[in-house]
Amino acid sequence: MKVVIVKNYQEASEYAAKEMLAVVKSNPKAVLGLATGSTPVGMYNLMVKDHKENGTDYSQVESYNLDEYINLPANHADQSYRHFMDVNLFDHLNITKANTHVPEGTGEAQAACEEYDAKLAAIGGVDIQVLGIGSNGHIAFNEPGVPFELGTHIVTLDEQTREDNARFFDSIDEVPTHAITMGIKSIKSAKKIILIASGENKADAVKGMIEGEVTVELPASALQDHSNVIVIVDEAAASKLTK
Ligand code: PGA
Repeated sequence: MKVVIVKNYQEASEYAAKEMLAVVKSNPKAVLGLATGSTPVGMYNLMVKDHKENGTDYSQVESYNLDEYINLPANHADQSYRHFMDVNLFDHLNITKANTHVPEGTGEAQAACEEYDAKLAAIGGVDIQVLGIGSNGHIAFNEPGVPFELGTHIVTLDEQTREDNARFFDSIDEVPTHAITMGIKSIKSAKKIILIASGENKADAVKGMIEGEVTVELPASALQDHSNVIVIVDEAAASKLTK
């Protein structure tokens, strides 16, 4: 694992955007692995800015997102991860929507998982995967305790994760209880992984991921033996690192 410590969230976003743009500029048919959450928003804004200013071409780029809620309440359709990606990134690039893949959380979930894995297998792993990390060490919706061998699967969301995400809903009761997520195995099939962590509430998870043992109790620790991972952390998120 390469660990890059930067001053703040803005610098982390800039570092991550440079990594993404290097892949897109070197390969017009790049396959990007994308994430939702607050963390990658700064990076997406910079990718949009670059596209406007420099015309970086996404017309043949393909993307795969990590996860999606199952059965969002109808009055919260705007909390779907598909909607998040459209609003924060896809609508502002010349990417072909049909080339942007997000797990389908409204139909038959098991079939959606199998279909997603088949697509991922066909492309042989994304070129670059961006990740955030949960305060409990989850990556995507792989919560503590999940076996690392799983492909795309249905999960019951952790109470901590539902509490973390309740800020986007009127109350925690409205946060979905289940989601579809790429598994650790599918995530690790990426050729390159960049994980961004910002803020003090991520410091324990960051420490465990980098300095702790590899354990299903801290899903992000599974990245330790991937050969091409860059962890981009700001000073607050790095504040508990000792080595
Ligand atoms: P956040 O979520 O970017 O909103 O902090 C990260 C995650 O839960 O993976």
